[in-house]
Amino acid sequence: MKYLSFKNGDQMPIFGLGTWKSEPGQVYAAVKEAITIGYRHLDCAFIYGNEHEIGEGIKACIDDGIVSRDELWVTSKLWNDAHEPEDVAPAIKKTLEDLKLAYLDLYLIHWPVATKKGKLLPEHGEDFISPQDLSSVQTWEAMEKLVHDRLVKHIGVSNYNIPKLQELIDRAAIKPEVNQVELHPYLQQNELVLFCKDHGIHLTAYSPLGSMDRPENLKGENEPILLEDPTITSIADKYNVSPAQVLISWAIHRDTSVIPKSVNLSRLKQNLAAVELELSTQDMEVIAGLDKKRRYVDGSFWAIEGSPHTVSSLWNE
Ligand code: A2P
Repeated sequence: MKYLSFKNGDQMPIFGLGTWKSEPGQVYAAVKEAITIGYRHLDCAFIYGNEHEIGEGIKACIDDGIVSRDELWVTSKLWNDAHEPEDVAPAIKKTLEDLKLAYLDLYLIHWPVATKKGKLLPEHGEDFISPQDLSSVQTWEAMEKLVHDRLVKHIGVSNYNIPKLQELIDRAAIKPEVNQVELHPYLQQNELVLFCKDHGIHLTAYSPLGSMDRPENLKGENEPILLEDPTITSIADKYNVSPAQVLISWAIHRDTSVIPKSVNLSRLKQNLAAVELELSTQDMEVIAGLDKKRRYVDGSFWAIEGSPHTVSSLWNE
């Protein structure tokens, strides 16, 4: 396994298990199986609604002696309705209680979008808190306090664009150490990758397989199917591996952490095995040519009427 190193010497396994869309009723078994076959990095979030069950899976593995807490890397994320500084510590404490852990390895601000307490998914403009009324920097200061209070070892963000990262870098006492964003061959985000590299921020690639199990309301018409891309499938055929394995290996070759979601034992195994797959420089060059700047998770759900956000302000595009 390859790792991404942090300034204090901590190491995050570059490959982890995504848990967005992992249904309660399935995710306990998936987490147990994943840890049993060698997964050591779990990516979670309050909003996925399954942290309690993931916690049961982690606990079962620790109780059975399959893994110890310090061998695991567990990430979770602060939801949008808990950005007010006084809501941040209670939010991580709820996540820790559900995951049955004393600390997280990494806690991320899930989106640069704040909503009023209890408005998990805003339906009206007034459900939002505008960046003028509550800045990311204010939320970030509360995130920093979590590190001092030893509730989390590392803090970072998710879905942040370059100016938003720069604002935190300029103002933060603890710099963001990770930015988790959508990354795959159809959305390569080279400028962001370079910026993060220059600023010592690790990237984690979400939706690395194209997230075809997204809810229908998050899907566009005639979406290109990444797992069926002819270039990806031909590279897969050449190495006698699956297209998913090529996509995972591509992310790792770019030194980005990658968190494919699966609740299926054979795909869990297959995805983990992709860590060993070597792609050639030529494969990487060919895949570099596939960029379509195509987001599967475009954030338009934050750009409803009356919202302070637009799709272009979210991504600075
Ligand atoms: P499943 O959970 O049944 O394995 P992403 O990580 O981009 O969000 O993609 C997750 C989707 O990809 C899920 O539908 C998941 O289904 C599927 N998936 C996970 N691993 C593989 C694989 N190796 N081959 C094909 N589909 C996969």
